[in-house]
Amino acid sequence: MARILVTGGAGYIGSHFVLRARAEGHDVCILDNLCMGHRWAIHAERFHHVDLADEQAVLDVLKRERPDAIAHFAAFTYVGESVENPARYFENNYVNTMKLLRAMSVSGVQRFIFSSSCAVYGEPARLPMDESLPTDPVNPYGLSKLFVEQSLPWFERAHGIRHVSLRYFNASGADAELRTGEVHKPETHLIPLVLDAAIGRRPDIKVFGDDYDTPDGTCIRDYIHVDDLCSAHMLALGYLDRGGQSDAFNLGGSRGHTVMEVIDAARRITGREIKAVISPRRPGDAPKLVADSAKAFRVLGWKPLHGQLETIVEHAWRWHRHAYELGYF
Ligand code: UFG
Repeated sequence: MARILVTGGAGYIGSHFVLRARAEGHDVCILDNLCMGHRWAIHAERFHHVDLADEQAVLDVLKRERPDAIAHFAAFTYVGESVENPARYFENNYVNTMKLLRAMSVSGVQRFIFSSSCAVYGEPARLPMDESLPTDPVNPYGLSKLFVEQSLPWFERAHGIRHVSLRYFNASGADAELRTGEVHKPETHLIPLVLDAAIGRRPDIKVFGDDYDTPDGTCIRDYIHVDDLCSAHMLALGYLDRGGQSDAFNLGGSRGHTVMEVIDAARRITGREIKAVISPRRPGDAPKLVADSAKAFRVLGWKPLHGQLETIVEHAWRWHRHAYELGYF
């Protein structure tokens, strides 16, 4: 049993991780400023309503909680917004993470699991994408994640903080027991927007470009179930526990789906019409992003259980209706 502090534990992926870590018998507490997270998503008894920018408050929490490890989910995640307002992303995702790492070094916390992103690669020169690809982000969001990754070895050298960076591809799906799920305000992600159209909250789904070099002309992404991301985090903690070396791993389903395939899957699963309107390309979208997650399989022993797009969309749909009924949107 480890004591784990989860930043962003009231957010989409963090709240799923809290449930998983507790189910596996760990002692979990949450630190979240609730700027993006939700009170209903808090599933730990100990919740610290603290902003990472407040380094003294963070240090006080670390001294009180004395965690063995920190899983750091708290971040801004809107790629488009990061292009409009880069300082907001460097400030929150990078500077505040540096404050967290300094507080860790002062309080002696030595294990760190970092929520990174496939956005650190930018436009990949080849597919599928493994970790040997050059990192060359094309937006401030990706750069803010890369800055953290590149800073981490220096904290290991100076303070012995060992770390794993997990580079998520497209996180999706929801807890099958409907205890938590995805609610972003505003929502920009494809699957919840498609389900919004299915539920009738919006008239249609805009398809951003149908003239890409892909089988149906729409962008390809690698959708990975949030529960599978959580299992990778648990394995990463165990790996560090056993003395594993600090490293970075891609987390994807290793299978690409076009936007139209996602919409078709949602039509089948929801039984609703879902009108798709072809719209201009969204600036900054890479045509194809597909993970090679062999390193996570090999080193961490990771095996995603919900690889089927149908399962991901079905879980997301169940959650979407539930959250709608509860008025979470
Ligand atoms: N899309 C649409 N219509 C929409 C929304 C999205 O056609 O209304 C398309 C996008 O153009 C893209 C695909 O659906 O081709 C997926 O888009 P998302 O916004 O759901 O996800 P992204 O691939 O843009 O972003 C994800 C994560 C980011 C991460 C990024 C890395 O959400 O945090 O992958 O590229 F940085």
